[in-house]
Amino acid sequence: MSAMTGVTNGATAPKGAMTGLINGAPAPNDSAEGREVQMKPFRFDSTELRWMPSGEPPARVRLSKQAGGNWRLVLGSKDIPLAEVRTVSSLGPGFVVLQIADKGHVGLQSDDAAAAEALLGELSKRKADYERFEQFEQGSVQSYFQYYAKCTNQQNMMQDSVRTTTYRRAIIENPDDFRGKRVMDIGAGSGLLSFFAAQAGASLVYAVEASSMGEVIQLLADSNNFPGSKIEVVTRPLETITDEVVGKVDCLVSEPIGTFLFNERMMESYLVARDRFLKPGGKMFPNVGNLCIAPFSDAMMHYEQMSKNAFWKNSNFYGIDLSAAVPRCTKEHFRQPIVDYINPDCLVAKHIEKRFDFATISVESLHKIEIPFDFEIQQPCLVHGIAGWFDAYFEGTNTTVLLSTAPWCPGTHWYQIRFPIETPLAVNAGQRLEGTLTMEANNLQSYYVRLEMRIKGTEIYSHAPCIDLKDPEYRFYTSANSYCPLAPKH
Ligand SMILES: C[S@@+](CC[C@H](N)C(=O)[O-])C[C@H]1O[C@@H](n2cnc3c(N)ncnc32)[C@H](O)[C@@H]1O
Repeated sequence: MSAMTGVTNGATAPKGAMTGLINGAPAPNDSAEGREVQMKPFRFDSTELRWMPSGEPPARVRLSKQAGGNWRLVLGSKDIPLAEVRTVSSLGPGFVVLQIADKGHVGLQSDDAAAAEALLGELSKRKADYERFEQFEQGSVQSYFQYYAKCTNQQNMMQDSVRTTTYRRAIIENPDDFRGKRVMDIGAGSGLLSFFAAQAGASLVYAVEASSMGEVIQLLADSNNFPGSKIEVVTRPLETITDEVVGKVDCLVSEPIGTFLFNERMMESYLVARDRFLKPGGKMFPNVGNLCIAPFSDAMMHYEQMSKNAFWKNSNFYGIDLSAAVPRCTKEHFRQPIVDYINPDCLVAKHIEKRFDFATISVESLHKIEIPFDFEIQQPCLVHGIAGWFDAYFEGTNTTVLLSTAPWCPGTHWYQIRFPIETPLAVNAGQRLEGTLTMEANNLQSYYVRLEMRIKGTEIYSHAPCIDLKDPEYRFYTSANSYCPLAPKH
């Protein structure tokens, strides 16, 4: 935010100035949550090179949350989705300049500088959901895109035959959603999904990839033949796209899926793409994700976790007693989720699902995800934690395709995940295990997961206070006891 005195001291000349601020169709009703300030509209006079009153009367400027959790900006009678607000800046006390997609810049001035400042602060905070990478630690972002810039890491995903075959089926078996359509592939990687969309007859595919893999997409697009399809490579983060994409698209495809669906927080970019670039009623592949959880019992896995502190039990390490550090070392290991395949026999209750409708959920709703549970235990056992996986649905016009990563399905590179508890809970068949699994987003493009559970009707309780989704133990590779799932059917 830049601070300047005097609203007529134009800063850099804005690209276009929005006029007719308060004209237009009435804005839809909104919820009571939000802020409102009366503000006078200004426009930038490119001859005089300064901001001038637009001649319109002061307008109600309101930031409000709508049903479904999406925020909107109401300017007079115009209703503007927050995704359309590209920049917000202050040119002096009480004077705010907004850059709005397709409409250009608009100046707004209020005599109540404090109220204008508060609106600006709130607007900048809410808008941050559409500038994903600015919120994250830069070290995290750099290593993230360096990872995806490597052919080897793209290959790992491409060779996951369950994943690749399911995505291809979802696209090819829904010709009505692709033939002759404008498509955007968010996080195109090698370009694979863009090429599938072209094979399905898309007329134009925007392949958006922020890493230097964009060069590989171009190479493959040039060296393959997609008759009737044009592939436009956009090598930049989706959130920073302005002029590279013209108009809106009919369909979005993306594989924004990390461990337990939301690790990497790329799903938020998928939602930003929906709000900025998808035509109303346009299709999303996938359009639904379900998180699934169930309690598990696995004495071997728990024993392995508990034994990892063995080194620190040494009471004479070069004459030093290390054992005081044992509890801390144990906690460190129980902060790691376990990523491997789960023997379905380890699950001790029927799983529950939490559904995410990608067509309607807000970016903000993914900042804190809570899954309350109340499981009926099916056998006497020790519960060692909660197991998790996800399903993704592609509900196309012609058919619905399911990508399931459940323990009883053929394995994928996402495996399943387990959130272990240090103190197991002894339960009998028929007892109920109630509690909550909470995921809190962090600025490392991931989540901290908290687990709390109790045997219903008792004070018998166990918890895992902070499991780091970004730092899993890939047990499939580190333990001789890890399970091997079914091979995929071809
Ligand atoms: C999980 S990979 C999927 C690659 C490819 N779509 C596929 O299915 O094989 C995600 C890709 O999205 C890219 N990516 C992540 N966030 C992005 C963003 N906001 N804008 C553009 N690319 C992004 C990453 O660099 C990575 O190549």
